[in-house]
Amino acid sequence: ARVRRYKWEVKYELKSPDCYKKLAITINGRSPGPSIVARQGDTIIVELKNGLFTENVAIHWHGIRQIKTPWMDGTEGVTQCPILPSDTFVYKFVVDRPGTYLYHAHYGMQREAGLYGSIRVLLKEGESEPFRYDYDRSIILNDWYHKSTHELSLGLTSINFAWINEPQSILIQGRGKFDCNTVGTTTTLCNASNPECAPYTMTVVPGKTYRLRIGSLTALSALSFEIEGHNMTVVEADGHYVEPFIITNLFIYSGETYSVLVTADQDPSRNYWASAKIVSRNSTTNGFAIFNYYPTHPRRDPPTILPPGPHWDDVAPRLAQSYAIKARRGFIYPPPQKSDRTIVMLNTQNTVGGYRRWSVNNVSFNMPHTPYLIAYKHNLLHAFDQRQPPDGYDFVGYNIFAPPPNPNATISNAAYRLEFNTIVDIVLQNANTMNAKNSETHPWHLHGHDFWVLGYGLGKFDAGKDSERFNLVDPIMKNTVAVHPFGWTALRFRADNPGVWAFHCHIESHFFMGMGVVFEEGVERVGELPSSIMGCGDTKGFYKP
Ligand code: C2O
Ligand code: CU
Repeated sequence: ARVRRYKWEVKYELKSPDCYKKLAITINGRSPGPSIVARQGDTIIVELKNGLFTENVAIHWHGIRQIKTPWMDGTEGVTQCPILPSDTFVYKFVVDRPGTYLYHAHYGMQREAGLYGSIRVLLKEGESEPFRYDYDRSIILNDWYHKSTHELSLGLTSINFAWINEPQSILIQGRGKFDCNTVGTTTTLCNASNPECAPYTMTVVPGKTYRLRIGSLTALSALSFEIEGHNMTVVEADGHYVEPFIITNLFIYSGETYSVLVTADQDPSRNYWASAKIVSRNSTTNGFAIFNYYPTHPRRDPPTILPPGPHWDDVAPRLAQSYAIKARRGFIYPPPQKSDRTIVMLNTQNTVGGYRRWSVNNVSFNMPHTPYLIAYKHNLLHAFDQRQPPDGYDFVGYNIFAPPPNPNATISNAAYRLEFNTIVDIVLQNANTMNAKNSETHPWHLHGHDFWVLGYGLGKFDAGKDSERFNLVDPIMKNTVAVHPFGWTALRFRADNPGVWAFHCHIESHFFMGMGVVFEEGVERVGELPSSIMGCGDTKGFYKP
């Protein structure tokens, strides 16, 4: 195994990823930031300099379990103090599993400002995948807002609540196209011919097969990704092999990654659209890229209109894809047949003291000033509420098909404590939002683990009937999973990674508004914490430069 070193500086820069000029948070001048490419077992060292003049930062390695290094998870408030302006923090961790992963800011709402990138972990030298391809490519999908991250986050936390609304653009590998005509003729602010916003072009050689590693880090949007006229074979999800299945469009939620195989088997005398369309919310914003057949000119538009994609409101095909995903034969790690503890998590939208919030079992999450990991390890009992949040909700009395009758909730930084090495089931139960006849899609992401996806359903989860239908034979393992509108999703994991781990909706604004929880497990087994993660809250004196 090798050591791979990266030197990154995080800075604001004026960027025009969709032709509209705004401040973006970049790494070494780029957004998406540089890709990390490594082999299984390698050690990654990222020397991260915070070059934002007035803002803290932290970076999370999404999908990397941080076994034996829980303090390197990069989750501000959970595993570390924020990195102060002009400070340098050294992240060091092992990528222990091959697959497609991501990294992104985990402080405030900096992710949506552009601070993200991809991680590709290849098999060890000499090993080969259970499928064949000629080339390997990574694509990150994102949505893009023209307001600053500060204005957006302030709106979410004000009594005069201002929702972030739909994004101005969808970016494919950092490029989108905003219609400059809508902001008048000023070409300094929006310039449709700026080369920075030329569509992302993926050039393919006729007859060759491409492995596309597609990751989504949208702030809000669920997407349908397709390549006009081409089938895709899904072979990997969140770092796990999938029993291959063929699709024409891939539904992908924020925090998920997929590998699909695409063969360039269509008429090579033209180009094709690759498109990313918003589903689950009524938005007309669309992203596109060009699937370019060599030697056709890469800038030549396809002769067709953009594929319309599925209807935004149609849940059935999205559920069908969720159901279709199974672990690949020969690579099945069946889950333990029973769990030790079941936590049902009702997801609701609430109003607390006039503020709009999201809650789990009527508790809306609030980050403490002292990171949990340090507080647990050093017994700083005043750092956060020591009581545990509830393991369920009033199942019989609650109608998930109507807005909450009492929209009030509790704001709390309490955490769940899981007994080390036990098997935990989580049932995520969706519900109606504050608006009648409305329920959203929430992609939930677990830090520090992969979980088995035991099942999905519509309506209220029935502990008796529904748990009998759990897939205990060949469920896929993932780190992010969608909870569909008015539906439930059940997952299982082993609490065997000593540390403190966030589990939250990956919609950045939802987490920011309280849609998350924290799990502690086996913290007594965690080795001595590096002082570099300290220095904030009750740990002020702990930092030794
Ligand atoms: Cu990718 Cu806690 O997030
Ligand atoms: Cu959500």
